[in-house]
Amino acid sequence: MSKLLISIAMEAEAAPLISALNLSPSTSLFPKALPFLSYEGENLTLITSGKDSVTGVDNVGTVPAALMVSHALSTGDYGTVVNCGTCGGFIKRGMSIGSVMIPSVGAFHDRRIVIPGTKFEEYGVGKREVTNAKADLVRSSLGYVGGCCTSGDSLDHVSTDDTQMDANEAVAKDMEFASIAQVCSLYDVDLVGVKVVTDLVDGDKPSFEEFMENLGTAAKSLQETIPRVIEVLKK
Ligand code: ADE
Repeated sequence: MSKLLISIAMEAEAAPLISALNLSPSTSLFPKALPFLSYEGENLTLITSGKDSVTGVDNVGTVPAALMVSHALSTGDYGTVVNCGTCGGFIKRGMSIGSVMIPSVGAFHDRRIVIPGTKFEEYGVGKREVTNAKADLVRSSLGYVGGCCTSGDSLDHVSTDDTQMDANEAVAKDMEFASIAQVCSLYDVDLVGVKVVTDLVDGDKPSFEEFMENLGTAAKSLQETIPRVIEVLKK
């Protein structure tokens, strides 16, 4: 099996997995200027986005995600990226709190660049098919659904986001997958996303409330799910 790169944005999402996989912190992967953290295990590296130096919170969002994965791929010989994390789920596409999905498409819902007569609108949506044998095998072996993970830089959503998320037929909403899909496509590396639902995008509670309520449970679910994903990828 080629080496795995596991990317997770938030420390709270990654912590139980780091202990479950018995990973050790490493200092060599990122230059000092970048806040990202890396951990090494048997034939795998796990990276997290570290803390913002101004606010002290996790560096979530599409920019840190792309920067972190791009830097890691440029320095190491990785055959597969596994992007794990929490997401909002859509009730209308069968998701409930705790559901796991393995995206087959990544797209953005908040990059509106409408200039008639050009392809900037399509560029903004940035749809990438994430169809590779590894993602398909994980999905079928573990019985998870696929579909579109739509990404943006906000935890909440406005009606123009809703219109684009509907057009993307989104099953899950996160803040990184579509940007990592673009990076993996540039490097020609397979991507397997593993997304656990913490909140319901088309439910009636504010996302932040449900997200905070279910973050701990989702992190534990990742701790159980990711070793099973790694086992499948070893085959
Ligand atoms: N991560 C978990 N829930 C999310 C949501 N509703 N939107 C974006 N990222 C999320």
